Amino acid sequence: MARIAITDGMSDGAMKILSDAGHEISSEHFEPPDLLSGVLSTFDAVIVRSATKMTREVITSSITESNGIQFIGRAGVGIDNIDLEAATEHGIIVCNTPGASTRSVVELTIGHLLSSVRNIPRADRTMRAGSWEKKTLRGSEIYGKRLGLIGFGRIARGVADAARSLGMEIHAFDPYVENGSIDPSMCTLHEELDDIFTICTHISVHCNFSEETKHIVNSDRISLMTGVGADGIECGNHLISCARGGIIDEDAALKALESGQLSSLALDVFETEPPDQSPLLAHDDFHGSPHIAASTMEAQARIGVEMANTLLEFLDGIRPVNSLN
Ligand code: MLT
Repeated sequence: MARIAITDGMSDGAMKILSDAGHEISSEHFEPPDLLSGVLSTFDAVIVRSATKMTREVITSSITESNGIQFIGRAGVGIDNIDLEAATEHGIIVCNTPGASTRSVVELTIGHLLSSVRNIPRADRTMRAGSWEKKTLRGSEIYGKRLGLIGFGRIARGVADAARSLGMEIHAFDPYVENGSIDPSMCTLHEELDDIFTICTHISVHCNFSEETKHIVNSDRISLMTGVGADGIECGNHLISCARGGIIDEDAALKALESGQLSSLALDVFETEPPDQSPLLAHDDFHGSPHIAASTMEAQARIGVEMANTLLEFLDGIRPVNSLN
């Protein structure tokens, strides 16, 4: 029997899988002082979402000479809250659930895309405030426009399929995807990130956050966007991210909104979460959501079950296919 700490919640179905297998589960959330005082060292495994930060110090505090965690499960995709190097140094396996939330993130991205071009958040805000802005809230169609995807993994490909079915032409940049591996009738893969900005009026971010991707969407690149669609319509420039905060330079994006270079900015993720003090929140052409791309009933059920089964495999001595180290 293993002792498992589930610190940021998990679906009931997932908890049941683990308890039915005879394991002892704690679903208490621990704050950093408790984590640093070694509260996890009495557990064999911990499963986190994004709230629990498994830093080097927390990982070191979670093991003793003879005991402590051997497994860190990230119930979700992004592992920027886990120090993978420190975990590896201590022989701790880290696993995530890379595919379980794909559909949900795809759908929220498309939701933000349509909200941006048809001004839906602004229309709702102004109407509630008593104003009927039928004449000023003129949008544009996405049909016949070029969508640029930064990163071309599972989620971006799902967005590409959905956007193509809505009549968009798809362009992507991903240095980790082999040229020639993508059907060019589905998507044009570019070798230069700048090309995405010069060619596309609508851009969605789908890469991981790392030192390599920090602020790759910056003022120089945003200034390359032309605001004119492939169909010749002056549709403006639209930027979306449901990936990770910090890939878009938010200060640069705000300046671009202020100057009119960007017609809209839609974010589900922020450099600081929650973005309470962000001046973006006061800009009419910005709209956002509080990091909810994976927050659907379906995704959370899939994530929980996948993570529980991954942990059971690990406890049975099988190296999980989702292991990241
Ligand atoms: C993920 O990486 O799985 C999503 O961004 C959701 C989250 O972090 O909670």
